[in-house]
Amino acid sequence: MQLRIFLGALWWAFTCLAACQKKRSIHASRLATESAPQDPRSKVVAPKVFIITMFPPEADPWLKNSGNPNGIGSLLDMNITIPGASPLFPQAHCLASGTVCLMTIGEGEINAASTMTALLLSHLFDLTKTYFLITGIAGVNPNHGTLSDVAFAKYAVQIGLQYEFDAREVPGDWRTGYVPLGAKHPDLYPTSLYGTEVFELNANLRDAAYDFAVGAAMNDSGISVDYRQNYNTATAGSASRFKAALRTPGVIKGDVVTSDVYFSGTLLGESIEKFVTLITNGSAVYTMTAQEDNATLNSLLRAAMLDLVDFSRVIIMRGAADFDRPYPGSSCLDNLFGIKQGAFDPSIRNLYTSGMMVVRGILGEWEGRYERGVEAKNYIGDLWGNLGGKPDFGPGRQHSDNPVQERGLDGDTDSETRNHSILEWVGYKSLVRGLAFNTLSLGMVLILN
Ligand SMILES: *[C@@H]1O[C@H](CO)[C@@H](O)[C@H](O)[C@H]1NC(C)=O
Ligand SMILES: *[C@@H]1O[C@H](CO)[C@@H](O)[C@H](O)[C@H]1NC(C)=O
Ligand SMILES: *[C@@H]1O[C@H](CO)[C@@H](O)[C@H](O)[C@H]1NC(C)=O
Ligand SMILES: *[C@@H]1O[C@H](CO)[C@@H](O)[C@H](O)[C@H]1NC(C)=O
Ligand SMILES: *[C@@H]1O[C@H](CO)[C@@H](O)[C@H](O)[C@H]1NC(C)=O
Repeated sequence: MQLRIFLGALWWAFTCLAACQKKRSIHASRLATESAPQDPRSKVVAPKVFIITMFPPEADPWLKNSGNPNGIGSLLDMNITIPGASPLFPQAHCLASGTVCLMTIGEGEINAASTMTALLLSHLFDLTKTYFLITGIAGVNPNHGTLSDVAFAKYAVQIGLQYEFDAREVPGDWRTGYVPLGAKHPDLYPTSLYGTEVFELNANLRDAAYDFAVGAAMNDSGISVDYRQNYNTATAGSASRFKAALRTPGVIKGDVVTSDVYFSGTLLGESIEKFVTLITNGSAVYTMTAQEDNATLNSLLRAAMLDLVDFSRVIIMRGAADFDRPYPGSSCLDNLFGIKQGAFDPSIRNLYTSGMMVVRGILGEWEGRYERGVEAKNYIGDLWGNLGGKPDFGPGRQHSDNPVQERGLDGDTDSETRNHSILEWVGYKSLVRGLAFNTLSLGMVLILN
Protein backbone atom coordinates (compact mmCIF):
# COMPACT_ATOMS: atom_id res chain seq x y z
CA MET A 1 0.00 0.00 0.00
CA GLN A 2 2.66 2.45 1.10
CA LEU A 3 4.85 1.48 -1.88
CA ARG A 4 1.97 1.91 -4.31
CA ILE A 5 1.29 5.35 -2.99
CA PHE A 6 4.97 6.20 -3.25
CA LEU A 7 5.25 4.94 -6.84
CA GLY A 8 2.05 6.74 -7.72
CA ALA A 9 3.40 9.96 -6.33
CA LEU A 10 6.64 9.48 -8.26
CA TRP A 11 4.75 8.96 -11.51
CA TRP A 12 2.62 11.97 -10.83
CA ALA A 13 5.68 14.03 -10.09
CA PHE A 14 7.28 13.10 -13.43
CA THR A 15 4.24 13.60 -15.59
CA CYS A 16 3.38 16.83 -13.87
CA LEU A 17 6.85 18.28 -13.85
CA ALA A 18 6.62 20.20 -17.10
CA ALA A 19 3.07 21.44 -16.56
CA CYS A 20 3.58 22.34 -12.93
CA GLN A 21 6.77 24.25 -13.70
CA LYS A 22 4.92 26.29 -16.24
CA LYS A 23 2.02 26.94 -13.91
CA ARG A 24 4.30 27.90 -11.08
CA SER A 25 6.28 30.36 -13.14
CA ILE A 26 3.10 32.04 -14.34
CA HIS A 27 1.92 32.21 -10.75
CA ALA A 28 5.23 33.54 -9.53
CA SER A 29 5.38 36.23 -12.16
CA ARG A 30 1.82 37.20 -11.39
CA LEU A 31 2.68 37.52 -7.73
CA ALA A 32 5.73 39.54 -8.61
CA THR A 33 3.64 41.95 -10.67
CA GLU A 34 0.90 42.21 -8.10
CA SER A 35 3.19 42.83 -5.22
CA ALA A 36 5.58 45.02 -7.19
CA PRO A 37 4.37 48.33 -5.69
CA GLN A 38 4.98 46.86 -2.23
CA ASP A 39 8.45 45.61 -3.00
CA PRO A 40 9.97 45.41 0.49
CA ARG A 41 13.07 47.21 -0.71
CA SER A 42 11.10 50.15 -2.03
CA LYS A 43 8.46 50.47 0.67
CA VAL A 44 7.83 48.57 3.86
CA VAL A 45 4.54 49.46 5.50
CA ALA A 46 4.82 49.73 9.28
CA PRO A 47 1.27 49.83 10.68
CA LYS A 48 0.67 50.98 14.23
CA VAL A 49 -2.55 48.95 14.32
CA PHE A 50 -3.49 45.92 12.23
CA ILE A 51 -7.18 45.05 12.43
CA ILE A 52 -7.88 41.35 11.89
CA THR A 53 -11.38 40.27 10.88
CA MET A 54 -12.63 36.86 9.83
CA PHE A 55 -15.39 37.60 7.31
CA PRO A 56 -16.84 40.59 5.45
CA PRO A 57 -19.58 41.64 7.92
CA GLU A 58 -16.87 42.22 10.53
CA ALA A 59 -14.69 44.17 8.07
CA ASP A 60 -17.38 46.20 6.31
CA PRO A 61 -18.00 48.84 9.01
CA TRP A 62 -14.28 49.64 9.01
CA LEU A 63 -14.06 49.75 5.23
CA LYS A 64 -17.37 51.52 4.60
CA ASN A 65 -16.94 54.12 7.29
CA SER A 66 -13.48 54.78 6.03
CA GLY A 67 -14.67 57.90 4.22
CA ASN A 68 -16.33 59.22 7.38
CA PRO A 69 -14.79 62.58 8.42
CA ASN A 70 -14.94 61.39 12.05
CA GLY A 71 -13.25 58.12 11.14
CA ILE A 72 -9.55 57.42 10.88
CA GLY A 73 -9.43 57.91 7.09
CA SER A 74 -9.88 55.53 4.18
CA LEU A 75 -8.63 51.99 4.66
CA LEU A 76 -9.09 51.49 0.92
CA ASP A 77 -6.36 53.96 -0.01
CA MET A 78 -3.69 51.27 -0.20
CA ASN A 79 -4.39 47.65 -1.07
CA ILE A 80 -1.58 45.18 -0.56
CA THR A 81 -1.80 41.70 -2.09
CA ILE A 82 -0.62 39.03 0.34
CA PRO A 83 0.66 35.87 -1.40
CA GLY A 84 -0.91 32.91 0.39
CA ALA A 85 -3.94 34.83 1.71
CA SER A 86 -7.45 33.46 1.33
CA PRO A 87 -8.52 33.59 -2.33
CA LEU A 88 -11.69 35.27 -1.08
CA PHE A 89 -9.79 38.07 0.66
CA PRO A 90 -6.43 38.40 -1.12
CA GLN A 91 -5.55 41.89 0.04
CA ALA A 92 -4.75 43.85 3.15
CA HIS A 93 -6.32 47.32 3.18
CA CYS A 94 -4.46 50.26 4.64
CA LEU A 95 -4.63 53.99 5.16
CA ALA A 96 -2.52 55.87 2.63
CA SER A 97 -0.03 56.51 5.44
CA GLY A 98 0.10 52.78 6.25
CA THR A 99 -0.58 53.63 9.91
CA VAL A 100 -3.62 51.36 10.15
CA CYS A 101 -4.32 48.22 8.09
CA LEU A 102 -7.08 45.63 8.02
CA MET A 103 -6.98 42.05 6.83
CA THR A 104 -9.80 39.52 6.57
CA ILE A 105 -8.28 36.12 7.26
CA GLY A 106 -11.20 33.75 6.60
CA GLU A 107 -13.29 31.69 8.99
CA GLY A 108 -12.25 28.65 10.97
CA GLU A 109 -8.92 27.60 12.40
CA ILE A 110 -7.28 26.48 9.15
CA ASN A 111 -8.07 29.67 7.24
CA ALA A 112 -7.05 31.82 10.18
CA ALA A 113 -3.68 30.15 10.73
CA SER A 114 -2.86 29.94 7.01
CA THR A 115 -3.65 33.58 6.28
CA MET A 116 -1.95 34.90 9.38
CA THR A 117 1.21 32.94 8.62
CA ALA A 118 1.21 34.23 5.05
CA LEU A 119 0.72 37.79 6.29
CA LEU A 120 3.33 37.63 9.02
CA LEU A 121 5.98 35.99 6.84
CA SER A 122 5.29 38.14 3.76
CA HIS A 123 7.96 40.71 4.64
CA LEU A 124 5.69 43.29 3.05
CA PHE A 125 5.31 44.89 6.47
CA ASP A 126 7.40 45.86 9.43
CA LEU A 127 5.19 44.46 12.20
CA THR A 128 7.62 44.71 15.08
CA LYS A 129 5.70 47.56 16.76
CA THR A 130 2.26 46.74 15.40
CA TYR A 131 -0.76 46.25 17.65
CA PHE A 132 -3.02 43.46 16.39
CA LEU A 133 -6.70 44.03 17.07
CA ILE A 134 -8.51 40.76 16.43
CA THR A 135 -12.19 41.57 16.20
CA GLY A 136 -15.05 39.21 15.46
CA ILE A 137 -18.48 38.04 16.42
CA ALA A 138 -19.03 35.24 18.92
CA GLY A 139 -21.47 33.20 20.92
CA VAL A 140 -21.78 34.26 24.53
CA ASN A 141 -22.02 32.31 27.79
CA PRO A 142 -25.10 33.74 29.58
CA ASN A 143 -23.33 33.25 32.92
CA HIS A 144 -20.82 35.95 32.01
CA GLY A 145 -22.24 38.13 29.26
CA THR A 146 -25.17 39.06 27.12
CA LEU A 147 -26.18 39.69 23.52
CA SER A 148 -24.14 42.44 21.81
CA ASP A 149 -21.57 42.66 24.61
CA VAL A 150 -18.01 43.24 23.52
CA ALA A 151 -15.48 41.22 25.54
CA PHE A 152 -11.70 41.72 25.73
CA ALA A 153 -9.87 38.44 26.37
CA LYS A 154 -6.77 37.58 28.35
CA TYR A 155 -6.91 33.87 27.56
CA ALA A 156 -7.80 31.98 24.41
CA VAL A 157 -8.47 28.29 24.90
CA GLN A 158 -8.70 25.76 22.12
CA ILE A 159 -11.46 23.36 23.08
CA GLY A 160 -11.55 21.14 20.00
CA LEU A 161 -8.39 19.20 20.84
CA GLN A 162 -10.25 16.39 22.61
CA TYR A 163 -11.53 12.87 22.09
CA GLU A 164 -15.20 12.78 21.22
CA PHE A 165 -17.81 10.12 21.86
CA ASP A 166 -21.42 10.57 20.91
CA ALA A 167 -23.00 11.73 24.15
CA ARG A 168 -25.64 8.96 23.87
CA GLU A 169 -22.95 6.30 24.10
CA VAL A 170 -20.89 7.55 27.05
CA PRO A 171 -21.08 6.11 30.58
CA GLY A 172 -24.19 7.33 32.37
CA ASP A 173 -22.30 9.35 34.97
CA TRP A 174 -20.28 11.34 32.42
CA ARG A 175 -21.42 14.93 31.89
CA THR A 176 -20.07 15.05 28.33
CA GLY A 177 -18.76 12.95 25.47
CA TYR A 178 -15.55 15.03 25.25
CA VAL A 179 -12.40 13.75 26.93
CA PRO A 180 -9.12 15.73 27.00
CA LEU A 181 -6.50 14.11 24.74
CA GLY A 182 -4.49 11.43 26.49
CA ALA A 183 -6.89 11.29 29.44
CA LYS A 184 -9.55 8.65 30.04
CA HIS A 185 -12.17 10.74 31.77
CA PRO A 186 -13.64 14.17 30.98
CA ASP A 187 -12.35 15.61 34.26
CA LEU A 188 -8.69 14.64 33.82
CA TYR A 189 -6.03 17.02 32.54
CA PRO A 190 -4.86 16.17 29.00
CA THR A 191 -1.55 14.31 28.84
CA SER A 192 -1.17 14.64 25.09
CA LEU A 193 -0.61 18.33 24.43
CA TYR A 194 -0.21 19.92 21.01
CA GLY A 195 0.93 23.29 22.33
CA THR A 196 -1.94 25.41 21.06
CA GLU A 197 -4.40 24.63 23.85
CA VAL A 198 -3.95 27.88 25.71
CA PHE A 199 -2.62 31.34 24.86
CA GLU A 200 -2.28 34.11 27.37
CA LEU A 201 -2.25 37.74 26.28
CA ASN A 202 -0.90 40.93 27.86
CA ALA A 203 -3.39 41.70 30.65
CA ASN A 204 -2.19 45.32 30.96
CA LEU A 205 -2.87 45.90 27.27
CA ARG A 206 -6.23 44.13 27.58
CA ASP A 207 -7.10 46.48 30.45
CA ALA A 208 -5.95 49.55 28.51
CA ALA A 209 -8.06 48.52 25.51
CA TYR A 210 -11.03 47.91 27.80
CA ASP A 211 -10.55 51.38 29.33
CA PHE A 212 -10.53 52.99 25.87
CA ALA A 213 -13.69 51.17 24.81
CA VAL A 214 -15.75 51.09 27.98
CA GLY A 215 -17.38 54.45 27.33
CA ALA A 216 -18.62 53.46 23.86
CA ALA A 217 -22.32 53.93 23.15
CA MET A 218 -23.57 50.39 22.63
CA ASN A 219 -26.09 49.49 19.97
CA ASP A 220 -28.95 47.09 20.70
CA SER A 221 -32.15 45.81 19.11
CA GLY A 222 -35.71 45.47 20.35
CA ILE A 223 -35.61 41.75 19.55
CA SER A 224 -32.59 41.29 21.84
CA VAL A 225 -34.18 43.35 24.61
CA ASP A 226 -37.13 40.94 24.64
CA TYR A 227 -35.04 37.81 24.09
CA ARG A 228 -32.79 38.43 27.11
CA GLN A 229 -35.84 38.25 29.37
CA ASN A 230 -36.11 34.53 28.57
CA TYR A 231 -32.99 34.03 30.70
CA ASN A 232 -34.67 35.54 33.72
CA THR A 233 -35.17 32.56 36.03
CA ALA A 234 -35.85 34.66 39.11
CA THR A 235 -38.63 33.44 41.37
CA ALA A 236 -40.04 34.91 44.58
CA GLY A 237 -37.38 33.05 46.59
CA SER A 238 -34.31 33.20 44.37
CA ALA A 239 -32.43 35.51 42.02
CA SER A 240 -32.01 34.70 38.34
CA ARG A 241 -29.38 32.13 37.45
CA PHE A 242 -28.23 34.23 34.50
CA LYS A 243 -27.76 37.72 35.87
CA ALA A 244 -25.23 38.75 33.23
CA ALA A 245 -27.59 37.74 30.41
CA LEU A 246 -30.21 40.25 31.56
CA ARG A 247 -28.00 43.35 31.35
CA THR A 248 -28.03 45.86 28.52
CA PRO A 249 -24.99 45.36 26.28
CA GLY A 250 -21.66 46.65 27.48
CA VAL A 251 -17.90 46.35 27.21
CA ILE A 252 -16.61 43.56 29.44
CA LYS A 253 -13.52 41.46 30.14
CA GLY A 254 -13.88 37.78 29.33
CA ASP A 255 -11.94 34.96 27.73
CA VAL A 256 -12.56 33.27 24.43
CA VAL A 257 -12.61 29.64 23.34
CA THR A 258 -11.80 28.40 19.85
CA SER A 259 -13.49 25.50 18.09
CA ASP A 260 -14.20 24.77 14.44
CA VAL A 261 -17.37 23.07 15.64
CA TYR A 262 -20.18 25.60 16.04
CA PHE A 263 -21.92 24.24 19.09
CA SER A 264 -25.19 25.07 20.86
CA GLY A 265 -26.52 23.68 24.11
CA THR A 266 -26.52 23.80 27.87
CA LEU A 267 -24.54 20.61 28.48
CA LEU A 268 -21.89 21.50 25.92
CA GLY A 269 -21.70 25.03 27.32
CA GLU A 270 -21.25 23.72 30.85
CA SER A 271 -18.69 21.11 29.86
CA ILE A 272 -16.68 23.81 28.06
CA GLU A 273 -16.74 25.96 31.19
CA LYS A 274 -15.22 23.02 33.09
CA PHE A 275 -12.65 22.29 30.39
CA VAL A 276 -11.51 25.94 30.30
CA THR A 277 -11.12 25.95 34.08
CA LEU A 278 -9.22 22.67 33.96
CA ILE A 279 -6.79 23.52 31.20
CA THR A 280 -5.97 27.04 32.39
CA ASN A 281 -5.51 26.04 35.99
CA GLY A 282 -8.61 27.94 36.91
CA SER A 283 -7.38 31.20 35.33
CA ALA A 284 -9.63 31.69 32.33
CA VAL A 285 -13.34 32.43 32.37
CA TYR A 286 -15.17 31.05 29.36
CA THR A 287 -17.15 34.01 28.09
CA MET A 288 -17.10 34.02 24.28
CA THR A 289 -16.87 31.38 21.54
CA ALA A 290 -14.90 31.74 18.34
CA GLN A 291 -13.72 29.59 15.49
CA GLU A 292 -10.30 31.15 14.96
CA ASP A 293 -8.52 32.90 17.80
CA ASN A 294 -6.14 30.21 18.94
CA ALA A 295 -5.13 29.57 15.35
CA THR A 296 -4.52 33.27 14.76
CA LEU A 297 -2.55 33.45 18.00
CA ASN A 298 -0.49 30.42 17.09
CA SER A 299 0.68 32.15 13.89
CA LEU A 300 1.42 35.31 15.87
CA LEU A 301 3.33 33.31 18.45
CA ARG A 302 5.53 31.70 15.81
CA ALA A 303 6.16 35.10 14.22
CA ALA A 304 7.02 36.43 17.68
CA MET A 305 9.59 33.65 18.04
CA LEU A 306 11.23 35.08 14.90
CA ASP A 307 11.04 38.63 16.34
CA LEU A 308 8.71 39.62 13.49
CA VAL A 309 5.94 40.69 15.89
CA ASP A 310 5.65 41.58 19.56
CA PHE A 311 3.27 39.13 21.26
CA SER A 312 2.60 41.67 24.01
CA ARG A 313 0.77 43.80 21.40
CA VAL A 314 -2.15 41.49 20.66
CA ILE A 315 -5.75 42.35 21.57
CA ILE A 316 -8.75 40.06 21.14
CA MET A 317 -12.19 41.56 21.10
CA ARG A 318 -15.28 39.42 20.57
CA GLY A 319 -18.86 40.66 20.13
CA ALA A 320 -21.80 38.51 21.22
CA ALA A 321 -24.06 37.72 18.26
CA ASP A 322 -25.98 34.92 20.00
CA PHE A 323 -26.09 32.82 23.17
CA ASP A 324 -24.12 29.56 23.35
CA ARG A 325 -27.02 27.77 25.01
CA PRO A 326 -30.83 27.99 25.03
CA TYR A 327 -32.81 29.72 27.73
CA PRO A 328 -34.38 27.42 30.33
CA GLY A 329 -37.30 25.58 28.77
CA SER A 330 -36.10 26.10 25.19
CA SER A 331 -34.10 23.63 23.07
CA CYS A 332 -30.56 23.73 21.73
CA LEU A 333 -32.01 23.51 18.21
CA ASP A 334 -34.18 26.54 18.79
CA ASN A 335 -31.18 28.41 20.17
CA LEU A 336 -29.29 27.88 16.94
CA PHE A 337 -31.89 27.55 14.21
CA GLY A 338 -35.19 28.67 15.56
CA ILE A 339 -35.38 31.93 17.36
CA LYS A 340 -34.04 35.28 16.19
CA GLN A 341 -31.89 36.82 18.90
CA GLY A 342 -31.47 40.12 17.07
CA ALA A 343 -27.81 40.61 17.96
CA PHE A 344 -25.94 40.03 14.69
CA ASP A 345 -26.03 43.64 13.45
CA PRO A 346 -25.71 45.29 16.88
CA SER A 347 -22.72 43.12 17.84
CA ILE A 348 -20.98 44.05 14.57
CA ARG A 349 -21.71 47.74 15.21
CA ASN A 350 -20.49 47.49 18.79
CA LEU A 351 -17.25 45.82 17.73
CA TYR A 352 -16.66 48.67 15.31
CA THR A 353 -17.52 51.40 17.82
CA SER A 354 -15.42 49.85 20.59
CA GLY A 355 -12.60 48.91 18.23
CA MET A 356 -12.47 52.42 16.83
CA MET A 357 -11.98 53.79 20.35
CA VAL A 358 -9.11 51.37 20.85
CA VAL A 359 -7.49 52.35 17.54
CA ARG A 360 -7.87 56.07 18.26
CA GLY A 361 -6.54 55.51 21.78
CA ILE A 362 -3.41 53.77 20.54
CA LEU A 363 -2.77 56.32 17.78
CA GLY A 364 -3.48 59.22 20.14
CA GLU A 365 -0.90 58.09 22.70
CA TRP A 366 1.58 56.59 20.26
CA GLU A 367 4.49 58.80 21.21
CA GLY A 368 5.38 58.31 24.81
CA ARG A 369 3.32 55.18 25.43
CA TYR A 370 2.19 52.82 22.70
CA GLU A 371 5.24 53.09 20.47
CA ARG A 372 7.32 51.93 23.42
CA GLY A 373 4.82 49.20 24.29
CA VAL A 374 2.67 48.27 27.27
CA GLU A 375 4.70 46.14 29.62
CA ALA A 376 3.12 42.79 30.38
CA LYS A 377 3.14 41.96 34.09
CA ASN A 378 1.53 38.56 33.51
CA TYR A 379 2.91 35.58 31.64
CA ILE A 380 2.27 35.88 27.90
CA GLY A 381 2.57 33.18 25.28
CA ASP A 382 1.62 29.57 24.81
CA LEU A 383 1.43 26.42 26.87
CA TRP A 384 5.08 25.53 26.26
CA GLY A 385 6.63 28.83 27.27
CA ASN A 386 8.10 29.30 23.79
CA LEU A 387 8.51 33.04 24.34
CA GLY A 388 10.18 32.53 27.71
CA GLY A 389 8.71 32.88 31.18
CA LYS A 390 6.62 30.40 33.12
CA PRO A 391 3.09 29.68 31.92
CA ASP A 392 0.61 29.88 34.78
CA PHE A 393 -1.30 26.95 33.36
CA GLY A 394 -0.53 23.52 31.99
CA PRO A 395 2.43 21.30 32.78
CA GLY A 396 4.91 24.17 32.66
CA ARG A 397 7.85 25.05 30.50
CA GLN A 398 9.22 22.22 28.39
CA HIS A 399 12.78 21.64 27.34
CA SER A 400 13.50 23.68 24.28
CA ASP A 401 15.21 20.76 22.52
CA ASN A 402 11.89 19.07 21.85
CA PRO A 403 9.13 21.22 23.27
CA VAL A 404 6.25 19.34 21.71
CA GLN A 405 6.04 15.78 22.89
CA GLU A 406 6.15 13.46 19.93
CA ARG A 407 3.25 11.17 19.41
CA GLY A 408 4.27 7.71 18.26
CA LEU A 409 2.64 6.55 15.03
CA ASP A 410 2.15 3.10 16.54
CA GLY A 411 0.51 4.59 19.59
CA ASP A 412 3.30 3.55 21.93
CA THR A 413 3.98 7.05 23.15
CA ASP A 414 0.34 7.54 23.90
CA SER A 415 -0.25 4.23 25.65
CA GLU A 416 2.68 5.04 27.87
CA THR A 417 0.73 7.85 29.42
CA ARG A 418 -2.80 6.95 28.54
CA ASN A 419 -3.56 5.05 31.71
CA HIS A 420 -2.02 7.61 34.03
CA SER A 421 -4.03 10.14 35.91
CA ILE A 422 -2.76 13.70 35.79
CA LEU A 423 -1.27 13.26 39.26
CA GLU A 424 0.81 10.30 38.15
CA TRP A 425 1.63 12.05 34.90
CA VAL A 426 2.91 15.15 36.57
CA GLY A 427 5.04 13.04 38.92
CA TYR A 428 6.38 10.94 36.06
CA LYS A 429 7.29 13.90 33.94
CA SER A 430 8.93 15.74 36.81
CA LEU A 431 11.01 12.72 37.56
CA VAL A 432 12.03 11.99 34.01
CA ARG A 433 12.55 15.51 32.81
CA GLY A 434 13.56 17.08 36.07
CA LEU A 435 11.08 19.88 35.63
CA ALA A 436 10.70 21.38 39.04
CA PHE A 437 7.99 23.62 37.68
CA ASN A 438 5.68 20.69 37.17
CA THR A 439 5.24 20.37 40.89
CA LEU A 440 3.22 23.56 40.66
CA SER A 441 0.64 21.65 38.67
CA LEU A 442 0.04 19.45 41.71
CA GLY A 443 -1.58 22.42 43.41
CA MET A 444 -3.90 22.75 40.46
CA VAL A 445 -4.76 19.08 40.44
CA LEU A 446 -5.48 19.07 44.15
CA ILE A 447 -7.71 22.07 43.77
CA LEU A 448 -9.54 20.60 40.80
CA ASN A 449 -10.00 17.27 42.53
C1 LIG B 1 -8.75 48.90 -2.97
O1 LIG B 1 -9.66 47.85 -3.17
C2 LIG B 1 -11.01 48.26 -3.14
C3 LIG B 1 -11.86 47.03 -3.34
O2 LIG B 1 -11.49 46.01 -2.48
C4 LIG B 1 -11.30 49.30 -4.18
O3 LIG B 1 -12.62 49.74 -4.05
C5 LIG B 1 -10.35 50.45 -4.01
O4 LIG B 1 -10.52 51.38 -5.05
C6 LIG B 1 -8.92 49.96 -4.03
N1 LIG B 1 -8.03 51.07 -3.76
C7 LIG B 1 -7.04 51.40 -4.58
C8 LIG B 1 -6.18 52.55 -4.15
O5 LIG B 1 -6.83 50.82 -5.62
C1 LIG C 1 -6.27 30.34 22.65
O1 LIG C 1 -6.30 31.72 22.88
C2 LIG C 1 -6.68 32.08 24.20
C3 LIG C 1 -6.88 33.56 24.37
O2 LIG C 1 -6.29 34.32 23.45
C4 LIG C 1 -5.64 31.60 25.15
O3 LIG C 1 -6.00 31.92 26.46
C5 LIG C 1 -5.54 30.16 24.97
O4 LIG C 1 -4.54 29.74 25.79
C6 LIG C 1 -5.27 29.79 23.55
N1 LIG C 1 -5.24 28.40 23.40
C7 LIG C 1 -4.31 27.84 22.74
C8 LIG C 1 -4.40 26.40 22.63
O5 LIG C 1 -3.43 28.43 22.24
C1 LIG D 1 -28.66 50.66 16.50
O1 LIG D 1 -28.23 50.97 15.19
C2 LIG D 1 -29.28 51.08 14.25
C3 LIG D 1 -28.68 51.29 12.88
O2 LIG D 1 -27.84 52.40 12.88
C4 LIG D 1 -30.20 52.21 14.66
O3 LIG D 1 -31.28 52.26 13.76
C5 LIG D 1 -30.72 51.95 16.07
O4 LIG D 1 -31.50 53.06 16.49
C6 LIG D 1 -29.57 51.75 17.03
N1 LIG D 1 -30.09 51.39 18.33
C7 LIG D 1 -29.55 51.78 19.47
C8 LIG D 1 -30.21 51.36 20.72
O5 LIG D 1 -28.55 52.44 19.48
C1 LIG E 1 -2.43 26.55 39.72
O1 LIG E 1 -3.12 27.38 40.61
C2 LIG E 1 -2.82 27.19 41.94
C3 LIG E 1 -3.72 28.09 42.75
O2 LIG E 1 -3.65 29.39 42.28
C4 LIG E 1 -1.37 27.45 42.18
O3 LIG E 1 -1.05 27.16 43.50
C5 LIG E 1 -0.54 26.59 41.26
O4 LIG E 1 0.81 26.92 41.41
C6 LIG E 1 -0.96 26.80 39.83
N1 LIG E 1 -0.26 25.94 38.92
C7 LIG E 1 0.39 26.40 37.87
C8 LIG E 1 0.99 25.39 36.99
O5 LIG E 1 0.48 27.56 37.64
C1 LIG F 1 -1.51 0.62 31.04
O1 LIG F 1 -2.52 -0.32 31.18
C2 LIG F 1 -2.28 -1.52 30.48
C3 LIG F 1 -3.48 -2.43 30.61
O2 LIG F 1 -4.54 -1.80 31.22
C4 LIG F 1 -1.02 -2.19 31.01
O3 LIG F 1 -0.75 -3.37 30.28
C5 LIG F 1 0.13 -1.25 30.88
O4 LIG F 1 1.27 -1.79 31.48
C6 LIG F 1 -0.18 0.07 31.54
N1 LIG F 1 0.88 1.00 31.27
C7 LIG F 1 1.52 1.60 32.22
C8 LIG F 1 2.62 2.49 31.78
O5 LIG F 1 1.25 1.47 33.38
